[in-house]
Amino acid sequence: MYTIDLNGKTGLVTGVVNKHSIALHIAQKLQQAGMGLYFTYANQSLKERVEEAVVGMAPLGIFECDVQNEGMVEGMFREIAGKHDAIHALVHSVAFAPREELGGSFLNMSRQGFLTALDISSYSLVSLTRHAAPLMKEGGSIIAMTYIASQVVIPGYNVMAIAKSALESIIRYLAYDLGRSNIRVNGVSAGPVNTLSARGIKGFLKMMEYYPQKAPLGRNITADEVGDAALFLLSPMSSGVTGEVLFVDAGYHIVGM
Ligand SMILES: NC(=O)c1ccc[n+]([C@@H]2O[C@H](COP(=O)([O-])OP(=O)(O)OC[C@H]3O[C@@H](n4cnc5c(N)ncnc54)[C@H](O)[C@@H]3O)[C@@H](O)[C@H]2O)c1
Repeated sequence: MYTIDLNGKTGLVTGVVNKHSIALHIAQKLQQAGMGLYFTYANQSLKERVEEAVVGMAPLGIFECDVQNEGMVEGMFREIAGKHDAIHALVHSVAFAPREELGGSFLNMSRQGFLTALDISSYSLVSLTRHAAPLMKEGGSIIAMTYIASQVVIPGYNVMAIAKSALESIIRYLAYDLGRSNIRVNGVSAGPVNTLSARGIKGFLKMMEYYPQKAPLGRNITADEVGDAALFLLSPMSSGVTGEVLFVDAGYHIVGM
């Protein structure tokens, strides 16, 4: 039997806010495979919530890291570098857009909403990777969470669709830049999962009712299934895969009507 053994490997997981977070389910799989993990919270008001969510996972450390704050990102990696010669994995599971931008008319998207959504949800992958890559001295694997609205219109997703298109392009450019350093960069495109962020999208619960009708597997996916796919991409099992977006959506994306 082939088992995924990540003992002795170290990773950083961003984007846990509570027990429903996709990032937490990814982290659980990594931890079960033996990887030591660092976590982040976006601001002080979320500190306790995140500490509570990861309590059973023996975290190596939990950092405050607002991805809009370059100094915080830099400081976090400096601290990690002080404790580890190398890290091996980075999970980007962070997204945000002002609530008023997630629904209604696409045409009325504000410039500030656009800039905020792309800064937090897309550019942050460049910033985190820039600081993580020098620590990936033994090679590494980076994943980012995306959604099919990057490619087709999902009404109401609006500015976040643009952010996901940018994110997927960033994944490809980073994969190209970092391939010779044996650092792989991939995306996981998940079907709807009932999380705090997802509930901010107008019509999200309707979406969860619609998916099982259309998806070949006839059901929604679980966050645990996203965790398994992420584990594959963050382990040597996927050593030949980079610049890819792997759909974990019960096959929804292949169906035209
Ligand atoms: N839930 C879904 O249906 C679904 C589907 C496809 C992709 N995704 C993506 O999965 C990822 C995780 O989302 P989730 O559904 O687990 O929701 P979630 O609310 O649990 O996670 C979103 C995270 O982003 C963090 N965040 C927001 N602004 C930040 C900032 N400035 N700095 C640092 N962190 C910040 C939040 O604190 C939170 O931890 C997102 O990229 C989301 O777009 C979600």
